[in-house]
Amino acid sequence: MALKRIVVDVLKGETVFPPPVWLMRQAGRYLPEYRETRKSAGSFLDVCYNPDLAVEVTLQPIRRFGFDASIVFSDILVVPHALGRDLRFEEGRGPLMTPIEPWEVERLDRETFHVNLSPVYETVRRLRQELPPETTLIGFCGAPWTVATYMIAGHGTPDQAPARLFAYQHPVQFAELLNLLADLSGEYLIRQIEAGADVVQVFDSWSGVLDEACFETFCVQPMARIVRCVRARFPDVPIIGFPKGAGCRYETYRGLTGVDALGLDWTVPMHQAQRLQAGGAVQGNLDPLRLVVGGRALEEGVGRILDGLGDGPLVFNLGHGITPQAPIVHVESMLQQIRGARR
Ligand code: CP3
Repeated sequence: MALKRIVVDVLKGETVFPPPVWLMRQAGRYLPEYRETRKSAGSFLDVCYNPDLAVEVTLQPIRRFGFDASIVFSDILVVPHALGRDLRFEEGRGPLMTPIEPWEVERLDRETFHVNLSPVYETVRRLRQELPPETTLIGFCGAPWTVATYMIAGHGTPDQAPARLFAYQHPVQFAELLNLLADLSGEYLIRQIEAGADVVQVFDSWSGVLDEACFETFCVQPMARIVRCVRARFPDVPIIGFPKGAGCRYETYRGLTGVDALGLDWTVPMHQAQRLQAGGAVQGNLDPLRLVVGGRALEEGVGRILDGLGDGPLVFNLGHGITPQAPIVHVESMLQQIRGARR
């Protein structure tokens, strides 16, 4: 009998109600068992590159909540790190890198890229063996634009001004950087699928800060390149694109990239989400702060998504990552509401 992984079925267009559910950043600091593992491991990157620890923290939210999908524990910035860029995570400051200079782009060293990322592939292989067979395993990477914003600024910024300036001032090197990241990200996803990932998701967390022309050149085109690369090798593996903040450009994004499913952030209005869903699966889009507050704010937010999107292919999720402040009891009551829903 064929194995049912309902998240895969939904991403391919099937409607399942109650919908399957997982949460972006579901392995993380809101879980005491995660904080415990992190304390013994030392740094965040040590967890990412140690398959024993990475498998353990990936499984923690599955054991506790029985989510329908599991996402391999890693970070989008292991890609530039594997290209030889330095990377540190400091408590409370997020990622820190040495900003890349235009002349350094052509010197990026791709020789040992896959060797450097082999712990991630090993983590995926072990996860596929250790996860419940019905749990979908998601591989991921950052979109070239979002990864480039951190490589260029060296840290998070509110509007990605350093990367936008770099793109206008050094268009040749910037295009070269995006193309390189797109090609390597495609290969990176393919290796994760070979290791056992059922689905892949591409996070473009900063697609919302670009004007129309830049959105098409920096977000849509590199994503289309990644989709072509993955499809050529694995035509049936669903690809989720998450262009956070894309607003009215979600339509263009799906049309021109060919992704199977769209991750929606919480600002997408219901009528737009429904229109998008008529063309394929959607994933989202609860405001993560409703999960922090709980009570009526949470119940109403969950109810609205189930009512508005429950009749089509929906993977219930947040509109962005869960925050460290989210109480576990609120995650539990959200799951109760979703799993108890009847049409
Ligand atoms: O459970 C999962 O979803 C898988 C793991 C995952 C992490 N990062 C672990 C993480 C995933 C899918 C990511 C993606 C990621 N990383 C994105 C795209 C999604 C998004 O949130 O917009 C981005 C932009 C990054 C870069 C990054 N990593 C930032 C900006 C930060 C600092 C913010 C923070 O929450 O501290 C990180 C650190 C990070 N990545 C943590 C985790 C669990 C926290 C670090 C820690 O545990 O000390």
